[in-house]
Amino acid sequence: MSSVVIVGAQWGDEGKGKVVDCLSESADMVVRFNGGANAGHTIIVDDEEYVLHLIPSGAIREKADCVIGNGCVIDADQLLSEYDELMRRGIDLSKRLFISGFAHLVLPHHKAADGAWEGNSKVALGTTKRGIGPAYCDKYARFGVRAEDLLEEKDLRNKLEAAYAYRSRWSGSGEYPGLEEVFEHLRKIAKRLSPFIVDTSLLINKRIDEGKRVLFEGAQGTLLDVDFGTYPYVTSSNPVAPYAAIGAGVGIRQLDMTLGVVKAYLTRVGTGPFPTELDSEVGEKLRQQGGEVGRTTGRDRRTGWLDLIPLRLSARVNGLDGLVVSKLDVLDSYEEIPVCVAYKLRGKTITEIPLPVVLMDEVEPVYEILPGWQSDTSEVTKWSDLPAKAQEYLKFIAEGCGIPVSGISVGQRRDQIIWLEEVFQ
Ligand code: GDP
Ligand code: IMO
Ligand code: MG
Repeated sequence: MSSVVIVGAQWGDEGKGKVVDCLSESADMVVRFNGGANAGHTIIVDDEEYVLHLIPSGAIREKADCVIGNGCVIDADQLLSEYDELMRRGIDLSKRLFISGFAHLVLPHHKAADGAWEGNSKVALGTTKRGIGPAYCDKYARFGVRAEDLLEEKDLRNKLEAAYAYRSRWSGSGEYPGLEEVFEHLRKIAKRLSPFIVDTSLLINKRIDEGKRVLFEGAQGTLLDVDFGTYPYVTSSNPVAPYAAIGAGVGIRQLDMTLGVVKAYLTRVGTGPFPTELDSEVGEKLRQQGGEVGRTTGRDRRTGWLDLIPLRLSARVNGLDGLVVSKLDVLDSYEEIPVCVAYKLRGKTITEIPLPVVLMDEVEPVYEILPGWQSDTSEVTKWSDLPAKAQEYLKFIAEGCGIPVSGISVGQRRDQIIWLEEVFQ
């Protein structure tokens, strides 16, 4: 395989950053294809923690080129501060960061609108307030400003004028700095960002043609997908694998393999249905042991047991070839581990997400209780050394969604991963 797509198979924060960092050891290029600084991808190297919001998780490996694809929305200030922070920590991206000219910019009025809409709306989604929804709104309304506009001052001015005129029609969009101030700021930023702005589709295709190894790094998770997720409690992009083709500018045949990262239990940040949520001491224990605090907003993540119903949807809409089950070690101490295998809804048993999706609020999970292994898996390096009950748990997940397990993560560190197949051959 020379190109591999990594996506979140649940509600985000599955451990994609860690998995991408592990695979980046043998990747030539890592490409983000959706979302923006709403993402928070954590990488731990020798007790150093890196949390990346916009820069791809290949950054910590010296060899991998890092590409921000056209499907992303970019907060230029956030990007530069992330870049500077990495530079300060000895990671030089000056020759290996590439930004798509077609990616849209997140502007101050987007962030203001995100906060204001959240405050005023009856449906508070619990967004990250990074301006993601409003930036994608403007993209599709065709009033967006793209990274390429930073290359031409006159064009930047025209695009900003159009964006401001459009936004001023929206009432309740919050307070934001005026056009002149934003224009001057972007002119300054343009000087720094311009060298990185290229046609990334050309670049990625060239690398694939040369037989180089390219990783596509999804942000968020399938259940937050604007089409397939628990709408309206979703993000405003498509975190699913097929979108890697659109969000990076490659053909679908160039995506050789898709892996879905699946947390061994389940978490969610923000509002929305979560049938297996544990509002109990057990939920708190999972939160503590799993360190379940959002990397972007610092909010506590909601916790619960693994749910096979959304995972089946995830397997289907991503076309998963394999699962990478993460955080198995967090379940080490449990005597019994419930897994949701079906829902009860108005007297019926269902095994898929109900239609309309709003009925997710009414479903009751049906659990199968699996025995826990009650031993430390965090230093296990091969399948045969995993406790038999942990192997049974993993097989149960694979059978439950019809996708084989390709990898198992048993800790935050790079070396705490077990591969059952060679991903880059
Ligand atoms: P992402 O958004 O999918 O990249 O995930 P986050 O970085 O937001 O959250 C995952 C958290 O779990 C981070 O703190 C990781 O360091 C941590 N993590 C990843 N894999 C494992 C694992 O296998 N075991 C444990 N205990 N922690 C993990
Ligand atoms: P990573 O890449 C978890 C959630 C927010 C909110 C909803 C909409 O780290 O897995 P948005 O700001 O995108 O408009 O918020 O989506 N959300 C995430 N949850 N992980 C993420 O990213 C998320 N990015 C957005 O909490 O519920
Ligand atoms: Mg995250």
